[in-house]
Amino acid sequence: MEMRLQKFLAKAGIASRRKAEEYILDGKIKVNGQLITELGTKINLDKDLVYYNDKIVELIPEKVYILLNKPEKYVTTVKDQFNRPTVMDLLPPSLKGVHPVGRLDYNTSGLLLLTNDGDFTYKITHPKHSIKKIYIAKVRGIPKETSLEKLRKGLVIDNYKTAPAKAKILRKLKNDAVIEITIYEGRNRQVRKMCEAIGHPVISLKRIAIGNIFLANLPLGKYRNLTKEEVDYFMKL
Ligand code: URA
Repeated sequence: MEMRLQKFLAKAGIASRRKAEEYILDGKIKVNGQLITELGTKINLDKDLVYYNDKIVELIPEKVYILLNKPEKYVTTVKDQFNRPTVMDLLPPSLKGVHPVGRLDYNTSGLLLLTNDGDFTYKITHPKHSIKKIYIAKVRGIPKETSLEKLRKGLVIDNYKTAPAKAKILRKLKNDAVIEITIYEGRNRQVRKMCEAIGHPVISLKRIAIGNIFLANLPLGKYRNLTKEEVDYFMKL
């Protein structure tokens, strides 16, 4: 992408555009080591290096917060060692600086947040904040109330007792059931292991909410930016 030098300097927080023009005219700005005194010179953001007082000027990246409806068969990493599709493949190149906040399994679909803001990631993923996550699971068999009660009370998986959860049946099918599970932690494959532990393995799994933010009607494979209110909501947790 190309940008006028004075705009670049202003965006990088060096000075206002007007002041940046003065710096250029005063010979304080170099591009790729060469003094530039002509206003309106365009630079290429991908390869040109701009110097102010002989120090490299860097654009402060704008913070972005993305909510993606992840399909199954995408890995939640920036790059996959087996070359499988990653969630980054669903975003345009301009968003390549973001990283996933937490993880959804390869075969899990639904709400995934991505950002370039480390503080935001910390807020959401640190166990001490115990943010709720709501999942819809299709499970084999129809769980009895006593089994759901085990999920609610907490049960042992991988030598670890899960925190109290919420669980309810949404739909009973012939041989399967659709249940809603709300957990306040996020261990590896936790919902799958919890369902397995009560004898009702997961057939498919989808996350529909994190905190108060819901997937709603965002189509599969599509993304949207979080609103300012949504970002503030997480930051205040
Ligand atoms: N629990 C799981 O088992 N899988 C996920 O992807 C998320 C939560």
